[in-house]
Amino acid sequence: MNASPQSAGSPTLNADVRSASGLWPILVDIARARRPGDVSTLPMDTLTWATDIGWQLQGRWDAQALELFDLFKPLLDFRAAGAAWVIAQLGQSLDGCVATRTGDSSFINGPENLLHLHRLRAMCDAVIVGAGTVAADNPRLTTRRVAGPHPTRVLLDPQLRLSGHLESAHVFNDGQAPTLWLCDARWRNEAVAQVGADRVLAVRDLLGDDTTPRLAHAVTALQSRGLTRLFVEGGGVTVSRFLAQRCLDRLHLAVAPIIIGDGRPGLRFEGPARLADCPRPHCRVYRMGPDHLWDLDLRTSA
Ligand SMILES: NC(=O)c1ccc[n+]([C@@H]2O[C@H](COP(=O)([O-])OP(=O)(O)OC[C@H]3O[C@@H](n4cnc5c(N)ncnc54)[C@H](OP(=O)(O)O)[C@@H]3O)[C@@H](O)[C@H]2O)c1
Repeated sequence: MNASPQSAGSPTLNADVRSASGLWPILVDIARARRPGDVSTLPMDTLTWATDIGWQLQGRWDAQALELFDLFKPLLDFRAAGAAWVIAQLGQSLDGCVATRTGDSSFINGPENLLHLHRLRAMCDAVIVGAGTVAADNPRLTTRRVAGPHPTRVLLDPQLRLSGHLESAHVFNDGQAPTLWLCDARWRNEAVAQVGADRVLAVRDLLGDDTTPRLAHAVTALQSRGLTRLFVEGGGVTVSRFLAQRCLDRLHLAVAPIIIGDGRPGLRFEGPARLADCPRPHCRVYRMGPDHLWDLDLRTSA
């Protein structure tokens, strides 16, 4: 997929053919609307909604616009009132690493995938990252590379492992978007003392007996705040847990032509013993500059 910022805005020779840059704000508006009827920017004859087939493009669009729509259509078509829909993305090497052994992950993927990452943020109500990612990267989790609203930033940190290390965290200091520290209710008071009650989402029984977070509880808690389209941005441990607990609807794996070796792993969990029992989800593949994006539909398998 040619997803570079320059190409997304390139003019077309034929005035009748509309471009990806014209489509993008409409897609964001649809994604952030609660119902199809809430979409405010939808010009006539651009997109239509039908219950059985979801959103459909109308008229003539250039190849980039068609591909952009195709990629994001599953995200747009989800519209069950109040229900949650969860997508994750990992940028990984050919050998399945998301960072080197020292935690260096900037940048495994090319700029086209970085743009895609920011597009996913813009289309989702909340972006979720694990404590290890905050500790390693101090991310901002904003949409600064694309037009569109910032998501609510959620730090998944059940036992407050980031306690005492958040003074310099961008997400708690830049004032760009709301941030929630998502922890088990047992640590609520300690979290509130550090960042204030409005920045803590304390979830009862988030931690199981083995200290693995119960992610369905986290999703339900976010949903009760009106955050229903959720984007899990990493790292490998967090995305693997969402996958293993069947809390993902969709997974984007952006595979870059690089070999890392003994790096931090991407997907790792206890899988089936028999190959025949391993899931083979329906996949689509998109070219993104030097990378290949695998779009996995985790609610279906071959
Ligand atoms: N390529 C990509 O797409 C991508 C995306 C995001 C991040 N990353 C990279 O992935 C790495 C982080 O991912 P990850 O899988 O290790 O973790 P993660 O999924 O971000 O966070 C969860 C893990 O971090 C541990 N953790 C908690 N507090 C920590 C702390 N203060 N310091 C270090 N680890 C802590 C957690 O342990 P407990 O469960 O015991 O609390 C848990 O194992 C970083 O190197 C980051 O640069 C890559």
